[in-house]
Amino acid sequence: MSLLTINKLTATVGAEVTDLPPQALAGDPALGAAVLDALEDNGVLVFPGLKLDPQAQVEFCRQLGDIDHSSDGHHPVAGIYPVTLDKSKNASAAYLRATFDWHIDGCTPTGDEYPQKATVLSARQVAELGGETEFASSYGAYEQLDDDEKQRFGSLRVVHSLEASQRRVNPDPSPEELARWRSRPTHEHPLVWTHRSGRKSLVLGASADYVVGMEVEEGRALLADLLDRATRPDLVYSHRWSVGDTVIWDNRGVLHRAAPYPQDSPREMLRTTVLGDEPIQ
Ligand code: OGA
Ligand code: MN
Repeated sequence: MSLLTINKLTATVGAEVTDLPPQALAGDPALGAAVLDALEDNGVLVFPGLKLDPQAQVEFCRQLGDIDHSSDGHHPVAGIYPVTLDKSKNASAAYLRATFDWHIDGCTPTGDEYPQKATVLSARQVAELGGETEFASSYGAYEQLDDDEKQRFGSLRVVHSLEASQRRVNPDPSPEELARWRSRPTHEHPLVWTHRSGRKSLVLGASADYVVGMEVEEGRALLADLLDRATRPDLVYSHRWSVGDTVIWDNRGVLHRAAPYPQDSPREMLRTTVLGDEPIQ
């Protein structure tokens, strides 16, 4: 019997976990394993009104894998990174407008780090308007291809860049901004990710710039079409936040984005990232 009470939120992605006291999440490896299984099955787990404190959030994430500490220093608790457009709460806030486009985290790392395994967000403050976090299954994106497409796309490779994702929200960068974006190396990934489990997913989203060996505009049109099909409204779970909610997603199996919210919104999510241990291959 599963340790978790799980209710699916849509047919393809997202499930709600209820009846779980926040302190239960911190020190129980069996629960960590159950959460990872449920994540693999559902892509996203929602813990409504959990009111997890930041320290407990980091301890919970430790049950799931190694924690990303590369962005420490923005919050007093190590392992917590504030996601907000408010520059007084996060000096790198300008980059976060790119979260408004569908993406997979970690496709353009500074080195050769693997994409993150899972990410936890807890709502400290919410937007009055907009600011939902939306999710679509990237496994589903592959599964809905027909046999001919699975065959044709199986060998395609795609170049991802920070510039591609930043340009979508900042099409007219200053030379300094452009130089900063370009200092991040580009990364070539297969379009179809064959996971260790044997499942396959599509690697799409804002960082995907062009298809190797294809006319640039033709490749971009293909990527845009695949993204549209993956994120059709009936395939999306949109989480409308209340303060105290915690959501975790499987970054290897979902695309996500924030619905736009105003630049001066108080919205603040506390994020903890579990490092990945599987390359895109
Ligand atoms: C992220 C992200 C979406 C949101 O933290 O990686 O994309 O809704 N956040 O804030
Ligand atoms: Mn993200």
